[in-house]
Amino acid sequence: MTPASSAAKRVVVLLSGAGSNLQALLERSLGGQVVRVVSDQLGAGALDLARARNVEAVAVDRREFADRQAWEKALREVVTEAAPDVVVLAGFMRILSGAFVSRWPTLNVHPSLLPAFPGAHAVADALRHGVKVTGATVHFVVEQVDAGPIVAQESVAVRSNDTIETLHARIKAVEHRLLPDSVTLFCHDRLAIDGRRVRILP
Ligand code: GRF
Repeated sequence: MTPASSAAKRVVVLLSGAGSNLQALLERSLGGQVVRVVSDQLGAGALDLARARNVEAVAVDRREFADRQAWEKALREVVTEAAPDVVVLAGFMRILSGAFVSRWPTLNVHPSLLPAFPGAHAVADALRHGVKVTGATVHFVVEQVDAGPIVAQESVAVRSNDTIETLHARIKAVEHRLLPDSVTLFCHDRLAIDGRRVRILP
């Protein structure tokens, strides 16, 4: 039997924000290894979080590039160098081209029960709509934003006194389980995409 370590999947994480989902990934064994973390913002605290765990952390700051194409080309080079088996968007707030997202299997975590409330303001949109239940989704990324095959979802009840912050905090607590669980399934070759459906293999 092949030793698990030689088969360990290489995971590259892209992010823009605080990195609490990155933290959750770094705390789990995943059956794979986070080999590089890339932020679209210089000075993102999440980069320090990665470095503190001896994970390479790189910023490809959009503001340093003349246009989106030049930025995405640089990002693609930085990701390619890390030879990922899977790319994980953990709070990555920029839209990637179809060519980019079809190059590697790519997972995203989103703070709503998709297809409800896609886009960058999912928690605020859910509150504004008055839904009683929202949640978290992990899905494969396709060119259309927040529209790819769904790997995992879990609901979160909305409370009458919720603010964006309190609701998002409870959703994130769910994400911190759902995303590592999904990446672990991927790393063990247990996700099979069948049209819009993702089957979880035994
Ligand atoms: C998460 O809620 C995720 O669903 C969304 O961005 C947020 C990132 O949070 N895409 P963090 O940076 O991981 O704390």
